[in-house]
Amino acid sequence: MNTLFIGQNKITLQTIDSTNNYAAKLIKVSYVPDGTVIMAQTQTQGRGQRSNVWHSEPHMNLLCSFILQPKTLGTDKSFYMSAMSALAAKEAIQEVSPQSDVKIKWPNDIILNDKKVGGILIENSVVKGLIKFGIIGIGVNVNQSEFSFSRATSIRNETNKVMDSDFLLKIISEKLEKWYLILLREGYHDIITAYNKTLWKRDLENKIDMEGKSLVVTSLSVREDGSISFSHKGSLKTASFSEAQISYE
Ligand code: BTN
Repeated sequence: MNTLFIGQNKITLQTIDSTNNYAAKLIKVSYVPDGTVIMAQTQTQGRGQRSNVWHSEPHMNLLCSFILQPKTLGTDKSFYMSAMSALAAKEAIQEVSPQSDVKIKWPNDIILNDKKVGGILIENSVVKGLIKFGIIGIGVNVNQSEFSFSRATSIRNETNKVMDSDFLLKIISEKLEKWYLILLREGYHDIITAYNKTLWKRDLENKIDMEGKSLVVTSLSVREDGSISFSHKGSLKTASFSEAQISYE
């Protein structure tokens, strides 16, 4: 691992309910070095955002959780944890599939050639308004070839190459360290600028599901608190993650 600390302490598991659950238990019972990563071959209860299940065929994909300890980062900055993780995963996937188009779908889905290749589930443990531990759970479809969701894909499906998940973890660790160091030196502007540049369909028409309706919107841009703003029928609107979802249509 070509890093100072991210991924240096690596815990490899065969089967676990969820690497995020394992990380949450670990920080309760022992000292954990900053940047520790837990990686599993198989998850029996992989979890996604919005209480979704994260399905992954055994031994096929990258399933990992990083434990970060930003120490002085307030919860008002929690979107930066999400944005920098998405940027790290996006850059790593771009590096291993250079011919492909890799983007971020708000807030932190990773899109490869217009299909979902990865997702991120962040669970922060907060003490006195500060993020004491951030658990960054990353799932990337690496070698799986069949999916029940028609808008899902894997690196292998898009590049026709089998890839070692350990190798991808190494690149993600390097990119995550780069962005985490930018975050720690308060490079908030750099993070949000890079994030917005790589938003999927940023300048195209999008469908957003909001308040039980599907709105056709344009000009996506994500604000520093993680909410998304967009133009709808000539007026500018803003929505939080709990209020709106971008459709794959
Ligand atoms: C999403 O797209 O909804 C987020 C998916 C996050 C999946 C990863 S796999 C490793 C880690 N452990 C989990 O249970 N979830 C995350």
